[in-house]
Amino acid sequence: MVANIRNIRPGTMHYVEIDGLPIALANLGGTIYAFGDACRHEGGPLSSGVLIGDTVTCPWHGWTYAVRTGKAIVPPVGIRVPTYAVRVEQEQIWVTVDWPDE
Ligand code: FES
Repeated sequence: MVANIRNIRPGTMHYVEIDGLPIALANLGGTIYAFGDACRHEGGPLSSGVLIGDTVTCPWHGWTYAVRTGKAIVPPVGIRVPTYAVRVEQEQIWVTVDWPDE
């Protein structure tokens, strides 16, 4: 469990770490999405950015990503931040990270 859904109101984001991996959680209308917190530009903290609808804008230089897919919208299209599977059980949020084989 990484967070309680009560602590992430709809339209807001929340920062968590899983074994040191920075992850942003976003509540879109009651559904939680998880994606990499580090912007692909220079590592800006996306969970401290601006969430409008289903897009998040980096607070440092304005790159924008689709929350559901992690794909960059502005600019440059074609890159993405990772996304992670989320499940919510009895208000507890669980995120699955597929670590690469060692
Ligand atoms: S670090 Fe995110 S836009 Fe530059």
